[in-house]
Amino acid sequence: MMISKKLNTLLNEQVGHELSASHQYVAIATYFDQAALPTMAKHYYAQALEERDHAMRLVKHVLDSDGELKIPSVPAPKMGFKNSLEAVQLALAGELQVTAQINALVDQAIADKDHLSKNALEWFVNEQREEVTSATTLVQMVKRAGEGGMFFVEAFLKDGGLAEAEGAGGEGAA
Ligand SMILES: [Fe+2]
Ligand SMILES: [Fe+2]
Repeated sequence: MMISKKLNTLLNEQVGHELSASHQYVAIATYFDQAALPTMAKHYYAQALEERDHAMRLVKHVLDSDGELKIPSVPAPKMGFKNSLEAVQLALAGELQVTAQINALVDQAIADKDHLSKNALEWFVNEQREEVTSATTLVQMVKRAGEGGMFFVEAFLKDGGLAEAEGAGGEGAA
């Protein structure tokens, strides 16, 4: 086994956290779908698939490291929201929580002097920067637009506004 027992446990837990995030995004997407905000729905359905990919990436790392994979049970997501703001704020809170979990995983890899795991986890560190940035932008946009102005947020998303926000100052900037 190339990973410590402690890191193995944390990686298994993180598989559960990523699957849980995937379910939560499906729940958020269906809220927007039913609220006739199809671009918001599309954004969160896509996020749900991304989170599943994250889980699979961790699964592969556990297997490649000859660890012991144990997929934990996943709690039911929160369904239904008061308004758009509550839904996008839950998405941001979730991403901040995952960022803290990823940091704890990197801390463990460093403590183990496990460079292979640290290297694999760097991808997640960068991914969380993008995810927190876009979730924060969406909260700001929804606050500015208000519920009656959600059409503007739809237009912003359709126009690729989030990709611009993630890449601001970088290669993605116009
Ligand atoms: Fe994730
Ligand atoms: Fe995420």
